[in-house]
Amino acid sequence: MATWKHHLPPLAQAAYIPLMSKSCTILGIESSCDETAAAVVRLCGGEVRILSETVRSQTEAHAPYGGVVPEIAARAHAEIADEIVRRALLDSGLDLGGIDAVAATSGPGLIGGVLVGMMTGKALAVARDLPFLPINHLEGHALSPRLSQGCRFPYLLLLVSGGHCQFIDVRGLGEYRRLGSTIDDAAGEAFDKLARTLGIGFPGGPAVEALAWEGNPERFALPRPLLNRPGLDFSFAGLKTASARLAETLGDDRRGQADLCASFQAAVSDCLAEKTARALRQFVPGPDGGIRLVVAGGVAANQTLRHALAHVADGAGAQFIAPPLRHCTDNAAMIALAGAERFQAGLYDPDGLAFKARPRWPLDEDSARLNPAYGGGRKGAKA
Ligand code: KG4
Ligand code: ZN
Repeated sequence: MATWKHHLPPLAQAAYIPLMSKSCTILGIESSCDETAAAVVRLCGGEVRILSETVRSQTEAHAPYGGVVPEIAARAHAEIADEIVRRALLDSGLDLGGIDAVAATSGPGLIGGVLVGMMTGKALAVARDLPFLPINHLEGHALSPRLSQGCRFPYLLLLVSGGHCQFIDVRGLGEYRRLGSTIDDAAGEAFDKLARTLGIGFPGGPAVEALAWEGNPERFALPRPLLNRPGLDFSFAGLKTASARLAETLGDDRRGQADLCASFQAAVSDCLAEKTARALRQFVPGPDGGIRLVVAGGVAANQTLRHALAHVADGAGAQFIAPPLRHCTDNAAMIALAGAERFQAGLYDPDGLAFKARPRWPLDEDSARLNPAYGGGRKGAKA
């Protein structure tokens, strides 16, 4: 293994020299779940320009199964990745000659899909003698508000999606501390499970939300796990099971289904909002004194949750920042931006081609190691 690297063209030797003032243009690739995406982002000083962004969702392929099927996802990424990258380049008006480095999600996620995107990125980097930057998907989400809102460091990020549910204290580029996390399921998983049990569609979140508009959120008294315990961890497994059990008893009772969706949504919102209020109370503002709350991830599309979080932020004197939906869900612009910020700061390993894809890759490895509740095991800490 040690010798093959010598046959590769030399990579940028200046990698550790800060390039702050220079402009850089990065091709980003994302394929860790069920979206195949590519984007070209230019960073000039502090200004972000998205030159193109292309995304292809696999929702239809997974819909019959009520959830993402890893094997189907990997194949679908492999079939479309080259086309998506070609389109992103075409839309940006550039060819690879105009790209300074390639960045691709290299974990955490469904490993088959991660490998497709990462190897596509590595192949392009090798072919054009460009640096390759392996990006942590969670760092992409963490930096996503900087794509359009120029959000300054530090800020509190609530990442709430189908695969993740955690608070990250984002102090600066590469400076992330996980303050709390789900100890079992992600909130999005609970939405998907309820929708699957009710037979109302996939992905579950939008379907549950649509039905919840007609319902009474006070009809069913659902659990709010860990709400009465100190700390910033979440738990959604109990709520998921309780609501799915109730769903099974409802049959075709549409009124009941709507009430259950509304009650479930209220329970999830309560858990997330209360913990967010706590997290904001312990947030240490930066030199500008500003307190910022960012919400990202697919579940951030939920209007009830957004209102609840906006209310909490207001109460804490915090600015509430919700990136546009296309940047809340999985996308490649956030991966390209993470690559661009790292490239410009010289904060990357010049031997990126040696990076091995990681199904598990916590953004803050220290807190993941210290807190076994977040999951350890042979493969290392879970995301
Ligand atoms: O971030 P995302 O697109 O993919 C990952 O999980 O990484 O998030 C997808 C999740 C799914 O669980 C989906 O049901 C949920 O976000 N979601 C929603 C809504 N829209 C999507 N959950 C609640 N309300 C919504 N409107
Ligand atoms: Zn994601």
